[in-house]
Amino acid sequence: MDARPIGIFDSGAGGLTAVRSLRALLPAEDLVFLADTARVPYGGRNRAELREIAASDLRFLASRGVKAVLAACGTVSSNCPEVVSGFAGGPSCGVVAEAARLAARVSSGRIGVLATEATARTGAFEREILRLRPGAEVTVRGTAELVPLVEAGRTGPDDPEAAAAVGRALAMFEGLGIDTLVLGCTHFPLLAGVFSAQAPGLRLIDSGRAGAEAIARLVSRAGIANDPAHAGRAEFFVSGGAEAFRRTAGIFLPGGAEGLSIFNAEIT
Ligand code: DGL
Repeated sequence: MDARPIGIFDSGAGGLTAVRSLRALLPAEDLVFLADTARVPYGGRNRAELREIAASDLRFLASRGVKAVLAACGTVSSNCPEVVSGFAGGPSCGVVAEAARLAARVSSGRIGVLATEATARTGAFEREILRLRPGAEVTVRGTAELVPLVEAGRTGPDDPEAAAAVGRALAMFEGLGIDTLVLGCTHFPLLAGVFSAQAPGLRLIDSGRAGAEAIARLVSRAGIANDPAHAGRAEFFVSGGAEAFRRTAGIFLPGGAEGLSIFNAEIT
């Protein structure tokens, strides 16, 4: 049994999609989540910048003594998987492989992927889906519009700006006949209600949840699960403003934001 926490990081509120799923999947595990909101958004950055950012996020989590790491960020997972897998303290993974695996399994073969521009540029989702499902028609599109909306807490189906931005995102897949849309940036599942309201028949793949399932498997395989009788706690570290993060987290996490332990993170 291993009482050390599991580390999770993202540029901001997107990683909450993974935190929420991990709380449900592994209730006995303590979690340390880093939201690097001082440097959000990641999605317009180049690979060299992302490598440095990911390395510093990992250093921060290592300094908190984590036993495993989930990069709950499609942008980092697709641009610098080698930095993520270089975590020396235990198993680690990103969100791309598992989200691609789910899409390849459930789709009838026409798959859309919506991600950040930096993720779309890498071709990582196409490669991974086609490796698992040769012959699938995969269309990947990048958008910079949705991350700032989510960071501002504008995620409700009644929010006119959110509805318009999601409409523009869905229009990029018009006429392609996709039956499955991978929300390949972990921020986007916070807008799942808006997507479903506008495209009710479309199957959505939540990349944050997929990442949570992947790291849960790795922890179990490595034999480093916590005492099952333990009631897991989550600590939240934010490199930018804590109160803005608390508001967004409060909308998204069951139980609201009141009792959340949020600390300022010094990232070096
Ligand atoms: N949530 C992250 C992702 O999955 C980063 C989004 C951003 O900061 O642009 O790509």
